[in-house]
Amino acid sequence: MDVNSPGAIPWSELRDRARQATRRSYSPYSHVRVGACAITDDGRVVEGSNVENASYGLTLCAECSLVSDLARQGGGRLIGVSIVAGDGEPIAPCGRCRQLLFEHGGGDLLVDAGEDGVPIALAQLLPDAFGPDDLGVRRSP
Ligand code: THU
Repeated sequence: MDVNSPGAIPWSELRDRARQATRRSYSPYSHVRVGACAITDDGRVVEGSNVENASYGLTLCAECSLVSDLARQGGGRLIGVSIVAGDGEPIAPCGRCRQLLFEHGGGDLLVDAGEDGVPIALAQLLPDAFGPDDLGVRRSP
């Protein structure tokens, strides 16, 4: 399977796996279960679930856990991601997670909009993003 050819991202598989990942969510405080599943440009699949903490601000979003899974697998470039809540429907990635996803997929990363929606490029969700390329050119001599 060439996941880079147009239309080749297996959205229903990503969505199903994201839905399964909501079952592994640790969310005793908000009771909002979130699961995420993404595919890399070499066809690997990575997953994550949100992990909350009694110190609320330390909560890890599902996308944080997904990015950790990516690093654990040796890294790579994300090309498509599905993020869903416990009701199985897509949930908007929070601002911090848009930045996290940008680091590993860039503006071309496609974000699932559900069965009836058209996937949306991350560049639309995080316009004019600050990213790794900015560091090199903005560093003081
Ligand atoms: N949450 C995520 O996992 N990802 C997001 O992009 C939005 C929010 C989680 C964090 C917290 O556990 C719960 O949703 C409610 O905010």
